[in-house]
Amino acid sequence: MRDPWWKTAVAYQIYPRSFADADGDGLGDIAGIIGKLDHLADLGIGFIWLSPVYRSPMADNGYDISDYREIAPEFGTTADFDRLLAEAKARGIGIVMDLVVNHSSDEHSWFQSAREGRDSPFRDYYIWRDPGPDGGPPNELQSFFGGPAWSFDARSGQYYFHLFDRKQPDLNWENPALRAAIWEMMNWWFDKGIAGFRMDVIDLIGKDPDNGITAEGPKLFDHLAEMQREVLAGRDVVTVGEAWSASPDTAPRYCGDGAALSMVFQFSHVTAGWDPEFGKWKDHKSDLVALKRGFNDWQRALAGEGWNSLFWSNHDLPRAVSKYGDDGIWRVRSARALAIVLHLMKGTPYIYQGEEIGMTNTRFARREDFNDVEVHGQWPEMQARGLSADDFLAGANANGRDNARTPMQWDARAHAGFSTGTPWLAVNPNYPRVNAAADRADPDGVFAQYRQLVALRKSHPIIVHGSFVPLAEDHPAIWAYRRELEGQRLTMVANLSGDPVRFAVPGQGAVSGQCLVTNTEARTDLTGEVALAPWEAVAVLGTP
Ligand code: NOJ
Repeated sequence: MRDPWWKTAVAYQIYPRSFADADGDGLGDIAGIIGKLDHLADLGIGFIWLSPVYRSPMADNGYDISDYREIAPEFGTTADFDRLLAEAKARGIGIVMDLVVNHSSDEHSWFQSAREGRDSPFRDYYIWRDPGPDGGPPNELQSFFGGPAWSFDARSGQYYFHLFDRKQPDLNWENPALRAAIWEMMNWWFDKGIAGFRMDVIDLIGKDPDNGITAEGPKLFDHLAEMQREVLAGRDVVTVGEAWSASPDTAPRYCGDGAALSMVFQFSHVTAGWDPEFGKWKDHKSDLVALKRGFNDWQRALAGEGWNSLFWSNHDLPRAVSKYGDDGIWRVRSARALAIVLHLMKGTPYIYQGEEIGMTNTRFARREDFNDVEVHGQWPEMQARGLSADDFLAGANANGRDNARTPMQWDARAHAGFSTGTPWLAVNPNYPRVNAAADRADPDGVFAQYRQLVALRKSHPIIVHGSFVPLAEDHPAIWAYRRELEGQRLTMVANLSGDPVRFAVPGQGAVSGQCLVTNTEARTDLTGEVALAPWEAVAVLGTP
């Protein structure tokens, strides 16, 4: 059987609000994306995951959709979208849309009708319950953005359910009419020529809120099987499900043979970098052994069946080089090391906008300066649990979502060349130094490293298909693994610390041959003990 195209492709995520603003209103837009397609074509990517561009009141920056088939006017028109699709296709790039169907916006016509009253034909598109015995919410379930997951609707005297903001009511997947409407919408987008869907919090759609079950609920895999039958079967598309609760045990049910998804985004490596008590809201030093385990367990679990997605960052996470690298003196080298480590594992890599030029976290001086609904919703929650204001601010600066949402830094002009107007979120002040124009002009820059890695994946089947064996899993500073395919061996060794390290390459990884990639000096030999410079990463290709 022919390999699916998305195994060899590298993906690039665009957060449209922050990517490129063509009309000067301070918000990125589709015309802006079109203007930057050559940057992406140069990088060599195969598809774009486009965060939501649908009509939306933007309570959660587009993850609250009020019309699944219309484009948000602030981002452009349907004609602009169609042009994006065509221009991307002309460069061999597919467009993967964001499917946000755990919930809609409360301004979607379905919800507007549903809240008219109990006999609305759309009432059952959402989850309504009578108040609890004390007149309060039906149960204790909490929203991910803080506060109860139930909001009271005075008109009907019932509560509706929302796992996110109160402006994001959860859709009722128990209702076959709702599911049919979603299948129809998905088919409509596919018929337009999109390359796939990234599915927002897809592990939540099978929930059973009456029994307190939200993630991986009893109906989840039935719904996904129905999606496979009604929409995906026979289509040559890519589907990636965001699934925070997926585990190596459940992974094959999402993306094994015949399952609806090509792969999932799982987050064990992300949560490994969180505080055990306060999660992302308290800064926590990332531990390399735990971080590696997050990847290695999944590499092992999906060795035979299923497929991995590989990512450091997205629009909900901190900047990779700030979280896992060193965004000070080693910014460029450590960003390159992280790229090498990620891209030579088995799976489809996703580059988050700005990662390819080594963009860093920003710093917000005060809590009020954050834009993100999650920061404001979670503060009262964390305060009640005993976190101090200073610790919360440090946590939000380390892990908050706005870090990834500051505008893309294109060049050293005002507002980093992102917009001629005032950007909706302040540009990171380091833009005169950290920007695409400067980085791309540097043959030893971050972009050059990413471009090389994307190209190597196309020319070296061992990167796509080779078996994966982790090495030195307990080493606190070294990340190392071996890949093998048809008599070839590729060994990657990286020092993920700012100190020099001497490392004895274990026998099962020993290789000498050709230096495939390096962020420092070329090496052709990884046998015996090697002395690695700070943040050095190297991969050698040879025979076992
Ligand atoms: C996950 C998305 O990535 C995030 O940005 C959003 O807030 C929630 N799902 C709700 O849609």
